[in-house]
Amino acid sequence: MINLTIDGKNYKGEKGENLLQVGLNNGFDIPHLCYHENLSPYGGCRLCLIEVTRGERTTLTTSCTYPGEEGLQVKTSTPQVLKARRLMMEIILALAPSSSHIQSLAGKMGVERTPFNYQKEGEGCIKCGLCVRACEELVGAGVLTFSHKGPQRKVEPPFGEEPKNCIGCGTCVYVCPAGCLTMEDTPQERKIDRWKRRMEMKTCQKCHQPYMPTPQIEYILKGPPDPPPEKWLSCCPICRRKG
Ligand code: FES
Repeated sequence: MINLTIDGKNYKGEKGENLLQVGLNNGFDIPHLCYHENLSPYGGCRLCLIEVTRGERTTLTTSCTYPGEEGLQVKTSTPQVLKARRLMMEIILALAPSSSHIQSLAGKMGVERTPFNYQKEGEGCIKCGLCVRACEELVGAGVLTFSHKGPQRKVEPPFGEEPKNCIGCGTCVYVCPAGCLTMEDTPQERKIDRWKRRMEMKTCQKCHQPYMPTPQIEYILKGPPDPPPEKWLSCCPICRRKG
């Protein structure tokens, strides 16, 4: 365990645990969008900025990427911190103005409007990289990547082509805080338009409803060391529960 101060009070944290997690664990409401406790930190949205004093040196830094250590002095709401976070929120709001999650977070931070206009640039993507990391680290498929540099930087499958190794699990859609990814199921196929990905759907042998993309079933069957029996995957979860 380590001892550190946050906004002048003493707290404990795990050595190496990032300061955002230490703060959240101790009830500090530090805004964040690109952090997920089950993924490696990326430091992309810069909403979690804090001020850290280590010895003689004070820096403005992203708390999600700063490992906790003994004796740090952390400040979560100095005027500089709030000003920098506000600017980042204005940029994010301009990138994804129609995301209800981002609107709500902006509202909590007192940001009602933005002077910027980037809407067409990333079509709602805030470039937080959550989808890229979730696909790589949680699913193990790794079909997404950042391409281009500067303002043109965007997330896409390699070469912008349909990623044939995408299994259609939808994890990227679920983790996206900007709501810029959509997944649509028809009786024949699942579509994730942003990745130009279309997959055939497996139909439940009992109720005959489509329930999972075929590549996802193939992935489950060959993926873990102890995959479920193929018969188990021939039915949808509802029919499986009915026995
Ligand atoms: S949550 Fe730390 S930079 Fe996004």
